[in-house]
Amino acid sequence: MMLERNEELKELAIKEIKAHRETVEGDHYRSRYHLMPPVGLLNDPNGFIQWKGVYHVFFQWMPFSTEHGAKFWGHYSSTDLVHWELAPTALTPGDWYDKNGCYSGSAISHEDKMLLFYTGNVKDEAGNRETYQCLAESTDGIHFDKKGVILDLPEGYTAHFRDPKVWQHLDKWYMVIGTQNLAEEGRVVLLESSDLKNWELKGDVTASGHQEVGSFGYMWECPDLFELDGTDVLLFSPQGLEPEGDLYQNVYQTGYLTGQLDYKEGKLSHGSFRELDRGFEFYAPQTTLDENGRRLLIGWMGVPEQGEDHHPTREHKWIHMLTIPRELHYVNDKLIQRPVPELQALRHERVEKTASLSNEKIEWTEMNGTVYELLLHLKKIDGSFSIHFRNHASMIFDSEEQKLTFMRVSFIDGKEESRSCSIAEVRELRFYVDASSIEVFVNGGEEVFTSRIFPNKSDDSLVFKAVGEVLFEAIKWKFK
Ligand code: FRU
Repeated sequence: MMLERNEELKELAIKEIKAHRETVEGDHYRSRYHLMPPVGLLNDPNGFIQWKGVYHVFFQWMPFSTEHGAKFWGHYSSTDLVHWELAPTALTPGDWYDKNGCYSGSAISHEDKMLLFYTGNVKDEAGNRETYQCLAESTDGIHFDKKGVILDLPEGYTAHFRDPKVWQHLDKWYMVIGTQNLAEEGRVVLLESSDLKNWELKGDVTASGHQEVGSFGYMWECPDLFELDGTDVLLFSPQGLEPEGDLYQNVYQTGYLTGQLDYKEGKLSHGSFRELDRGFEFYAPQTTLDENGRRLLIGWMGVPEQGEDHHPTREHKWIHMLTIPRELHYVNDKLIQRPVPELQALRHERVEKTASLSNEKIEWTEMNGTVYELLLHLKKIDGSFSIHFRNHASMIFDSEEQKLTFMRVSFIDGKEESRSCSIAEVRELRFYVDASSIEVFVNGGEEVFTSRIFPNKSDDSLVFKAVGEVLFEAIKWKFK
């Protein structure tokens, strides 16, 4: 009976894709480098894994509207991290324990199967929430059999208890879950299992109010805990932080703590929180260790409740996308994010220029475009240097203030708005400019700015401007 409901939901999603294909595909804001929903709303990346050689990225998906709701798990797969194919819908909210959404979670490989762990979201008529951690299995990486609930809500936490991330350490399995306690403080809990079905709660790995984070929000979403270059990293998305100078400017944040996880005690000893991205739209990222031993990350290029109603793509029946895949490293006490080198396969028609600017601007029409990769080597910046995209967004480095700023025209009120970070030196800027987004990697990934932009269709200008003296080299590749 219930199987029928899941099958029915899958059919309805396919119909929805077909019914709106032309409207969706007809949008000039559709992306080339990034994964998007085929229709409807996409949010968190889920179940990121390389399994039997093939990369899989699932995503939180509402096929029937551009609003949040009872989420499906949409599914993309790829052999090279560059070319992706939409696979059949992996999970649908058709059972009593996930009827209001198959919420975020993760994937592992086990005994020749791919296993998905996710949160079943349930709401009653009065809006009361229930939460169940659930399991689904696949033998082919395409079709998933739901196995039902493996964990009920433990005592001491509210029903905001979700987003299981599972990994193996020595001979045991571990799971982190994002939650809040009854005093409405954010935390991440750790669970342990020998068989992936029975899970023992070890307690809070860390939490708001603990160690150097101090009082730190009312809910922590989408945790991920992994070892990287000799340290343990806890990545999560806290909610409820107040802006502090350049920090915490978005409605909700994403960042990390580093230190050592004591598996026996279930505690992470760590330093202070760092934001992972400096741009406007970045949330709920997830990592995986691929078959080459690389730690890869993909994030949601969106933030919950941050102007979502104003995205112009909604007119075309879709909203949001994922970031490009990035490779993570831990260098000088900091996470470094680099675009995966596989993306170089998309480089096409190289244009190279060198310029020495003195209180002037320059535009080379061969550099203009709407979808391209741009790499700048900055040899000298004495004053301020800015790069202006489509008369809509710009990146500015001020060498006196040692400040790097991304500016854009707001899609809410048309006014200029900015995000900044302090940085002593900018030697390299790598931009992935897409029809409606920009990702900027600074000095090989020391800082990253990820944002959506919605410029005029007909404007493809790219202008470089110096106030003072600037010497740089620019290389641009069109998207292939
Ligand atoms: C984060 C999040 C998760 C939840 C999912 C629901 O954006 O709120 O905590 O599982 O989205 O779509």
